Amino acid sequence: MIISPSILSADFMNLQNDIEALALRDDIWLHLDVMDGHFVPNMTFGIPIIKQLSTITKIPLDMHLMVTNPEFHIHELKNTKLQNVTFHIEAVEDALHLIKIAKQFFPSVGISIKPGTDVGSLSTDILEIVDLILVMSVEPGFGGQKFMPKAVEKIVQLNYLREQNQYHFQIQVDGGIDNNTVKSVTDAGADNLVAGSYIFGAKQEDYNKRIDSLKI
Ligand code: DX5
Ligand code: ZN
Repeated sequence: MIISPSILSADFMNLQNDIEALALRDDIWLHLDVMDGHFVPNMTFGIPIIKQLSTITKIPLDMHLMVTNPEFHIHELKNTKLQNVTFHIEAVEDALHLIKIAKQFFPSVGISIKPGTDVGSLSTDILEIVDLILVMSVEPGFGGQKFMPKAVEKIVQLNYLREQNQYHFQIQVDGGIDNNTVKSVTDAGADNLVAGSYIFGAKQEDYNKRIDSLKI
């Protein structure tokens, strides 16, 4: 089980300090939400900040691209040390092609589906090669939203497909994950949990306790 704290809810005026408050352990990633003001209405940060972040922490970086043209970011960051790069199936014409490109540069490549996108939109070819499937449990764009329970059904479907076919992908869930919602997604088969406001909304000395509380 991996927990991926999303810096979207961290203190951007003290970002390095907030990141250093996370204990170094082998079961966390650091989730980086890249928004372009086009695929989603909100904007966050982009290539220069991600390059700098990669130099200040040993925590594996998990980039979630909520952008219209993910190929651009994938190419611009191909020499940056990122553990996982996820882009949205709704953003591209040929997801399989871009997964194959991204796999040349990064250890793990993910594909994400928004709340309105069905598991059936992921072809067998994609399921066979992708390293991670990110099930959005809120509409992408903002932290601190309410968990949408229909994500659970998608996780169950993906877990079933994974077991039946021995696919290797992790099932990641993102949006509204906290101590109340976590059990429903882990019971369904999610093994990689993104949490923003639940972790960084706590006092800094409690970040690690919040991470532990998601590992049930
Ligand atoms: C939303 C982002 C999430 C966000 C989650 O578009 O993809 O990663 O940070 O925030 P919480 O955990 O507060 O719902
Ligand atoms: Zn995210």
